Amino acid sequence: MQMIGIKNLYDIKQLTKQNILDIFAKADEYNINRHSNILNNKIVANLFFENSTRTLASFEIAAKNLGANVITLNIATSSVNKGETLQDTVDNIAAMGVDYIIIRHGVAGAIADIAKQNNNYSIISGGDCANQHPSQALLDAYTMQKHFGSLQGLNVVICGDILHSRVAKSNIDLLKNFGVNLTLVAPEVLLPPVQAREDIIKYTTHLDDALFGADVVMCLRVQKERFSDDFTLSIEDYKAKFCLNKARANIISANSIIMHPGPVNRGVEIDSDVIEDKKSKIIEQVSNGVLIRQAILSLVG
Ligand code: NCD
Repeated sequence: MQMIGIKNLYDIKQLTKQNILDIFAKADEYNINRHSNILNNKIVANLFFENSTRTLASFEIAAKNLGANVITLNIATSSVNKGETLQDTVDNIAAMGVDYIIIRHGVAGAIADIAKQNNNYSIISGGDCANQHPSQALLDAYTMQKHFGSLQGLNVVICGDILHSRVAKSNIDLLKNFGVNLTLVAPEVLLPPVQAREDIIKYTTHLDDALFGADVVMCLRVQKERFSDDFTLSIEDYKAKFCLNKARANIISANSIIMHPGPVNRGVEIDSDVIEDKKSKIIEQVSNGVLIRQAILSLVG
């Protein structure tokens, strides 16, 4: 099979536009028939050091659909709790003979550090701290492309805890190379620091204004677990100004779409009736996630 020439995937910026289109095309193939035996006799190990529902299950199902044998280490009961480093855990799992290791980790850059060694297996990121989440950005962009046919010229609004979001960072890195007009909406304290802002991106604290003309509204969870001790945010105030409620969802046109990577805090960043709205692609994102991860496992390595 034709691979894209990338052994490990830990940062969406590793991929060219063509690589990304190749991944989308492969996902389209799996959309027609998701079962394949290309990973027969291969072992995929999942090492998730941070909580996960969708990403972990999605990689596991994707690998199984391709015929791989999958092991998912239960970190809570592993030797990590005896003080073992990430490197030692990876080296020991690798010594048992694995082909892919999918890692989610709480230290930014930790996955890239492992991947940059000359390993005889592939490392694929399931997200590192507030840094990168490449497979999520791919499934999000794929969901947009499926609906609109192309990413070029779309007005995409990302609203929520941008500062702490690896989903936002990877999405921004991907979408800005596809001619997408990006608007980031959040309370000032949850926007990127002023010195890190880019001219081609709009930053605002006014959701209602940003929604006019939006093709895509992506809501993000407030990631309290990543707040530093001195960080304060009024959730009541946040809900009033930034929750995507029905009235706000009605501002966007009938053909616009609403997205969320999950997990959702209903009533905080998005209301329940909006999750179930016709414009919502939230469940489709999850389905597309399996196709995209099958495509990643097929083309990276
Ligand atoms: C996100 C993550 O873990 O970065 N979820 C996901 O992977 N689907 C977003 C979040 O935790 O809010």
